[in-house]
Amino acid sequence: MNWEPYYFSIAISLHALAAVVWVGGMFFAYMALRPVVAKLLEPAVRLTLWTRTLTRFFIWVWLAVLIIPISGYWMIFSAFGGFAGVSWYIHLMQGLGIIMILMFLHVFFAPYKRLRNAVKAEDFQEGAKHLATIRTLIGLNLLIGLIVTVTAIGLEHMPV
Ligand code: HEM
Repeated sequence: MNWEPYYFSIAISLHALAAVVWVGGMFFAYMALRPVVAKLLEPAVRLTLWTRTLTRFFIWVWLAVLIIPISGYWMIFSAFGGFAGVSWYIHLMQGLGIIMILMFLHVFFAPYKRLRNAVKAEDFQEGAKHLATIRTLIGLNLLIGLIVTVTAIGLEHMPV
């Protein structure tokens, strides 16, 4: 019995699920929650809410940033026979995917860590600065994530 197609099916499903959770989560946070919270809540509550919400969301993003490259490179090396066998849209997906992952790692280890420390120290003015940086970077990562999704799904069918 040839198990390869089953493994591929599992890998691409995990890959796409991880992408949906990550990009969808950023979309909800940036497009729906952020504008309401910014208008409605005082800095102390707003910053605490964002810190705790991001703490929960980032657990899923960590899972996504592990699953996406592992499944992606596994598909490239097992099913496509390495980079020589893949189309240009996969190269583009990989390049943009690496940028997204690096940007998340930066957010996690720099502004998010500083935001958490500021909220712990109840320095909400300082916290607001780091939250603004996180907002910009997540906005950018969301945009790239949407472009990667179009790259992965839409461009695959272009006759190039
Ligand atoms: C290290 C980076 C990445 C690598 C190496 C990679 C690799 C791959 C490969 C080999 C496929 C299978 C393509 C096919 O069957 O024709 C795929 C599919 C897919 N990738 Fe990625 N990918 C990466 C990052 C991402 C990211 C960051 C996203 C979205 C945020 C993403 C979304 C998708 C989706 C939705 C599919 C399914 C496309 C379909 O079959 O219609 N990928 N990826």
